[in-house]
Amino acid sequence: MGIPKKFFAIFAVVAAIILYLASSVDYNSPTAENRFSFPTHPVDVAPYTAAVVYLVSVMPEPRSPDRLLQSIPRMEKNIPWRYRWPIVLLHAGMYDSADSQLDFLSRLRDSANAHNLAPEVTDDLLRRVEFIATHHELPEGIPADGLVDGPIWDGEWPAYHHMCAFFSYKIFNHPRIRDLTYYLRLDDDSYVREPACFDPFEYMHVNNKSYAFRDSPPDMGWVTEGMWPFVSNYAQRHPEVEKTLRRNSFEWAPNRLWPQGFGAGVNFPSYETNFDLVKVPRFRTPEMTEFLYELASDPKRFYWYRWGDAPVRFAEVNMFLDVTREVHRMCEIPYAHKDRPFDDCECVPLSG
Ligand SMILES: *[C@@H]1O[C@H](CO)[C@@H](O)[C@H](O)[C@H]1NC(C)=O
Repeated sequence: MGIPKKFFAIFAVVAAIILYLASSVDYNSPTAENRFSFPTHPVDVAPYTAAVVYLVSVMPEPRSPDRLLQSIPRMEKNIPWRYRWPIVLLHAGMYDSADSQLDFLSRLRDSANAHNLAPEVTDDLLRRVEFIATHHELPEGIPADGLVDGPIWDGEWPAYHHMCAFFSYKIFNHPRIRDLTYYLRLDDDSYVREPACFDPFEYMHVNNKSYAFRDSPPDMGWVTEGMWPFVSNYAQRHPEVEKTLRRNSFEWAPNRLWPQGFGAGVNFPSYETNFDLVKVPRFRTPEMTEFLYELASDPKRFYWYRWGDAPVRFAEVNMFLDVTREVHRMCEIPYAHKDRPFDDCECVPLSG
């Protein structure tokens, strides 16, 4: 096999040029072709780890498979990903069997084709889907027939309550999540409407942010009963938390120091967590962990009063993070939830 060395040298030069061209593709360019092209940078050279996370089924309720099949390709093609991260589907009930997973992947392939993803992009997308079984059990003290106790809200019992508890605190200790630098949670009925000008994980990394949300409406007082006094008591017992809340200009409900009825029926601020971009280590600090432990100590909060992860996330962020420095409203990403488009803002590409 006498292939002259010269050919190897030429081959190496050509390969280097091809690699250079591929890696210098400008993903911020507005032309659609570039956005769909491959390869991006391999994930093992990334200075962080990340995953896009969907909670796709919670016993006994399936969520919305048809919407999820739209959400994934739109997220893939409308974000100029610098690295291609796993798409983690946390499931319990639906997609538990290998057959149902294969069936889902084959429908995802059809959907990706319908969204005009290039075949090699679709192949890569399917390879990155991970089905991760995630169980949700009723905590001690909450009976399986808990509905007969007449909880504040009985819709989707207990799947909805499991979901709220899961995203409020359990997720930070989930084996597939806890060692990541970032996760972006989307809901199956969330989607990226149009091309965005940056990769949200890159944004977090470049700007050293710890939390990003898309919108921040208040949550109803009747599903946050007890949350005002819970946060207030915790802050009174933890002066650092009190200080952080003050620095973040956290606005209390009226009459905080009255002995009775503080915050009753008063809406609690929230981050709408159908788009929830988290720097995981910031939610695994000893201080935050102590708070999450106390939060979990009374399961009625989630399973009777139906506290949601949206106001809980707002409390966590405002109690432990420096909002001005660490939190970003990521209105640059054109986004919709349940077909409701959110207000966007101008997207400035990341430099470098
Ligand atoms: C990045 O943010 C963290 C807080 O999450 C802070 O402790 C650190 O000093 C910041 N790093 C830089 C380089 O600003």
